[in-house]
Amino acid sequence: MTLEDVKVGFIGFGNMAQAMAEGFLRQKALRPGQIYACAKNWDKLCKNTEEKGMHACRDAQELAASADIVIIAVKPYLVAEVVSPIKELLREKIVVSVAVGYTFDKYEEVLAAGTHHLSVLPNTPVSIGEGVIVCEQKHSLADAEFALVEGLFSKIAMVQVVEARLLGIAGTICGCGPAFVSMFMEALGDAGVMHGLPRAMAYQLAGQMVAGTGKLLTATGAHPGVMKDAVCSPAGTTIIGVTTLERKGLRSAVIDAVDAIERR
Ligand SMILES: NC(=O)c1ccc[n+]([C@@H]2O[C@H](COP(=O)([O-])OP(=O)(O)OC[C@H]3O[C@@H](n4cnc5c(N)ncnc54)[C@H](OP(=O)(O)O)[C@@H]3O)[C@@H](O)[C@H]2O)c1
Repeated sequence: MTLEDVKVGFIGFGNMAQAMAEGFLRQKALRPGQIYACAKNWDKLCKNTEEKGMHACRDAQELAASADIVIIAVKPYLVAEVVSPIKELLREKIVVSVAVGYTFDKYEEVLAAGTHHLSVLPNTPVSIGEGVIVCEQKHSLADAEFALVEGLFSKIAMVQVVEARLLGIAGTICGCGPAFVSMFMEALGDAGVMHGLPRAMAYQLAGQMVAGTGKLLTATGAHPGVMKDAVCSPAGTTIIGVTTLERKGLRSAVIDAVDAIERR
């Protein structure tokens, strides 16, 4: 099985599944005919799939019979209910879960013994091929199956393998981070508008600045503090903003936000 002929099915075709499917199509990792999906609302599913040439399946049974890689993308509280009737079919498949909190050990309780499965946490920038997909180190995929999944996911994301105990915090930074960064970009946009920039232009500038700064960090491996220092000349303008943000508690607010999520 290769990326040329693999069939990928989504059980649940909401925000995350559609973001991944969009990413696969945009990055030309898969052709529309290689993607299958099922969901609760049939009409909505048909609209979201067939218009783009993907296949809509009536139910999880039909989907599991059609796909080689089955991606479980329903809300976590529905996983056991959705998986239970198709357990036997899934034994023959590569099962990948994106459900938050559903680790390898938890899946061992709901899947049939011997099922090949992997738990991952993607984030929404996968839709434009710029995501992060955190994979749990413990899985039961054969080497060739993992290579196939990793090869597919790396077309839409940076793939990072972590131990189970780090899956939650890595998923929080990558999965909740887009909301935090969006708030930051919105605030920059408001400040830009306050000082005369048209709003659309302010958001474009903020967005590209964040994208470029992020790429600089990952491409060079530079320490974020060093990147910050590089922009702050003595008695210059940037250091005025940096010290103001420090006084307002930007960094501790971010740390507290992540800590609050981890302690919930
Ligand atoms: N969104 C994120 O940023 C994010 C990040 C990491 C992980 N995740 C994980 O991704 C999973 C999906 O989240 P989401 O944000 O995409 O949720 P969502 O937008 O609510 O999508 C859930 C999908 O499940 C479908 N569904 C509900 N009951 C079903 C059933 N019995 N059989 C088949 N499909 C059913 C829904 O169908 P209808 O649309 O027809 O109701 C919908 O397509 C969750 O487990 C979440 O933890 C999400």
